Amino acid sequence: MKTLVILAHPNIEVSRVNQRWKEELLLHSSDIKIHEIYEAYPDWNIDVSREQKLLEAYDHIVLQFPLYWYSYPPLLKKWFDDVFTYGWAYGSSGNKLHGKKLSLAMSIGDKKENYSPEGSVSFTVDEVIAPFKASINHVGAIALPYFAVFGASFQATDEEINQSAQDYIRSIFKVQNEMGEPTA
Ligand SMILES: Cc1cc2nc3c(=O)[nH]c(=O)nc-3n(C[C@H](O)[C@H](O)[C@H](O)COP(=O)(O)O)c2cc1C
Repeated sequence: MKTLVILAHPNIEVSRVNQRWKEELLLHSSDIKIHEIYEAYPDWNIDVSREQKLLEAYDHIVLQFPLYWYSYPPLLKKWFDDVFTYGWAYGSSGNKLHGKKLSLAMSIGDKKENYSPEGSVSFTVDEVIAPFKASINHVGAIALPYFAVFGASFQATDEEINQSAQDYIRSIFKVQNEMGEPTA
């Protein structure tokens, strides 16, 4: 099992997309480990050493979350601040994430066409996630292309969300295959 999914949803019980993705991930629990940080840390008191050990054990890490204000939900931002420490993630001896592959799996409320210079958002998703890519570069990891479903607030139908769940799993197995990991 070589993929770790860090799932950060403040209200997973009312989620359509992330909940559906979680159900699909759980069907593949021998290949994919899910770690839900809002469930693990209801008091936001993150166990840094536990998180670091978990990250050290996996070569492929996916951060899954709903896009909130063009960024991470707040506990995931705190998770970065707390867990990616000097001497562990960066600095002259901080090499624990070197060479690991990290990617984002996001549910995005707005429509795809709005994420362009001409659209109402004015920025592409790749531009929106520049802070993630800069952080990944800073710790010597490799940022893989993001996975997303758009129209997650209203437009996406149940069928499209089901399809996105299948596509999400396939995208994880594709990375595992490329890394030479046995898959289901
Ligand atoms: C606080 C908040 C901020 C949001 N900000 C954005 C945003 O910046 N861009 C966007 O496209 N959608 C935004 N949305 C919509 C969410 O991305 C959408 O509700 C979510 O992806 C749906 O996924 P879920 O069914 O798993 O909850 C926001 C929603 C909330 C509640």
